[in-house]
Formats: sequence, C-alpha cells, structure tokens
Amino acid sequence: MPHPVTNQRTPSAAPPDDRPVYLDYQATTPIDPRVIDAMLPYLTTHFGNPSSDHAYGAKAKAAVESARSQVAGLIGAQPHEIVFTASGTESNHLALTGTAHTLRSSGCGHHIIISAIEHPTTQATCDQLEHDGFEITRLPVRPDGLVDPEVFAEAARPDTVLASIMLANNEIGTIQPISAISRIAHERGIVMHTDAAQGPATIPVDVEALGVDLLTLVGHKMYAPKGVAALYIRDGCPAPQPQLVGGGQERGLRASTENVAGIVGLGAAANIARTAQPSDSARILSFRDRLLDRLTTALPELIVNGSLTHRLPGNLSLTIPTVTASELMSRTPALAFSAGSACHTADPAPSPVLVAIGLDGDKAARTVRLGIGRYTTISDIANAADRMIAATQR
Ligand SMILES: Cc1ncc(COP(=O)(O)O)c(C=O)c1O
Repeated sequence: MPHPVTNQRTPSAAPPDDRPVYLDYQATTPIDPRVIDAMLPYLTTHFGNPSSDHAYGAKAKAAVESARSQVAGLIGAQPHEIVFTASGTESNHLALTGTAHTLRSSGCGHHIIISAIEHPTTQATCDQLEHDGFEITRLPVRPDGLVDPEVFAEAARPDTVLASIMLANNEIGTIQPISAISRIAHERGIVMHTDAAQGPATIPVDVEALGVDLLTLVGHKMYAPKGVAALYIRDGCPAPQPQLVGGGQERGLRASTENVAGIVGLGAAANIARTAQPSDSARILSFRDRLLDRLTTALPELIVNGSLTHRLPGNLSLTIPTVTASELMSRTPALAFSAGSACHTADPAPSPVLVAIGLDGDKAARTVRLGIGRYTTISDIANAADRMIAATQR
C-alpha cells in the first residue's frame, strides 16, 4: 500500500506528536518512507560489497547499477554518466577541483566563473583553487537574485575553462537561466557545471534542456538520506581528476566502497521524483502562495527577497522589518524554519547571498527562510501563518 504523503506532517508511521511544524525543506528533507523501504534490505540481508566476486557482491552491484539507471533517468542522462559520491559538497568538489586540474594540465587555461550566490561548498572550493593559482571571477547577481547571461558572456575570457552556476539557490530559491548560460559557455569552449541540489524535489532537471556538462544532485534535498549524492559527467567531457583514489570504484573517479543502501535510496528517491514532481510542485506552490498571502495581508511591510517568478515553488525568503530573525524564531518554537541559510547559521556575518542582492546587515538580520515540501499540510500552513503573524505583532 502506498504511504500517505499529504495528510501527515512527516513520513513517520508514529501517531501525531508535538514536534514543530517543519518549514526548512531547503536545509534537508525527511526521507520518504518508500525510500526507506527500498533501502532496508541493503542494510540487512543484502549487505555485500559490490566489488566482491560472489553472490552477495553481485546482488549489491546490481542494486548500485539499478540505482544508477534510476538517477540517470531522472535527469535525462545515460547510466554511465553518473558517479555516486557521499555529499553535494563532494560532488561540487569533484566537478570543480577535478575538472579545473584536468583542464589546466592539458594547457587549456586557468580562469573559472562562478556566481556570488553559489553555495559555500562552491565558494570554498574556488577559494582553494585560487590558492592553487586559478583565477576566479564571482559574477554579481541582479537585485532579483538572477545571473544575467550577458554579464556571464562579458566575463568569459579566452583562458576561461570552467563555469559553475547553481540551478536553484538554497537561500532565496531563485532559478537561474542555466540553458542560456550553458549556450554561451559552449560557444566559448567552457565546461559548464550546475549545482542542482535544490532542484529535483520540485522542478524538472534535464541535462539536455539545461545543456550542462556536469551536474550535482544531493540525496537529502530530495527525500533520500544524507551522505549520498551524485555527479553527472557528460560523455566526452574531460574526466575530472579523482579527488579520492584507492580501490578504483566508480570507474576510478571516486574510490571508496559504495554506500549501497544510500545509493539505493537515492535511486528510489529519483524514481519517485520523476512521477511525484508535477503534483508535489503544484501543491507546494499553492501552499506557498497561501502562506505568502496571509503574511503580506497581516504584515504589509514584509519584503520577499528574490524573483517570485523564477523561484523554487517551496521557498520563501522574507525580510520582516519589525522583527529580527532570531526574535521571530525564539517567539515561535512550534515552527522550524531558518534564519538565512542553515548551512552557516553558526556564522554571525550577514549571508553573502542576501548581501549580493543588496540587503544591508540590518535587513539580512531580519530575514527568514521558509521551506515547504512534500509532507507540509494545509493545516501546517495555517498554523505557521497564525504563529508568525502573532509573533511579529507583539
Ligand atoms: C545548493 C547546495 N549545494 C550543495 C549542498 C551541500 O550538500 P551536502 O550537505 O550533501 O554536502 C547543499 C546543502 O546545503 C546545497 O543546498
């Protein structure tokens, strides 16, 4: 029997409890119960090492290859173009560091373009590359949070080898014009990567439509577990230098014994996303609109950060001038949302993404991110609106 997904707050089979309403789907998603069901045999009976030359190994290997086909199927790729990794951080690192070194050692150049609002994994990887002698251009974004393809074209140089522009931003949810940027990149011989971590749960991610050479997918943003991710590498794209070497797994691109159960979970999540995405997306968008409507009616001074049109259906980044994010969070313990990006809440500096779209430190401190997803219910939305409005009108 399929698990009910729309009338419960989280996918747990446990009775309703007093857990806060979860509104942080860009930080992480709960695991879909169907994903857990698919994984369980690979944590118990089918525990073999895919490299082992016996029946246990063969069973595990077959499961990994089946998951590879499922992940490829989600993004319009071929199975052999998928490399499994342990995280989005690792996929981005393999795509950027690995490819940059391959291209520089074949004498192609050492200039890389990213945007100012890339995830900290990409920013930090590029800081390291800069230290290793690469030149990095960090493109500004418009006030609506979008990269202008013309600005990208102007930044491209004869020695530009690689570009990385994320598909959808994890803080403000803006969806970038990747296909237009990829076209420009390819006209100039630039290898194009996109970090699509935030995409598959609610928007189509197709490597042909996007025109990218490299693409990052992340399990825990699409109802699979944490600690499993993938990198798509287009056929014919220069192979990135492996960042983990040893056992030769993943065609030598990523050594380590495979996380078989996690990979099976990612495959199952990809399969579910293929069919669930349109209905999830429509429902989530209607919930977001309802929440925004309630909030703007009660709090007319509220500002939505980033384009509302080119945006993930389940994301709201809101600046509420009358209250700081930390005040709002402490006044609404029954809600779980985030101040800026959950990836660096320990850092008191204003979010670089909010700064890049023109917010000053004060506005950034008054900004919250609400993330809606597969298990959000209409009563969660009503509850969240009531509590946030009450907390801001104190
Ligand atoms: C856009 C984006 N890229 C990469 C990552 C990093 O993924 P992971 O946590 O698996 O390293 C995240 C997670 O926050 C993300 O939102």
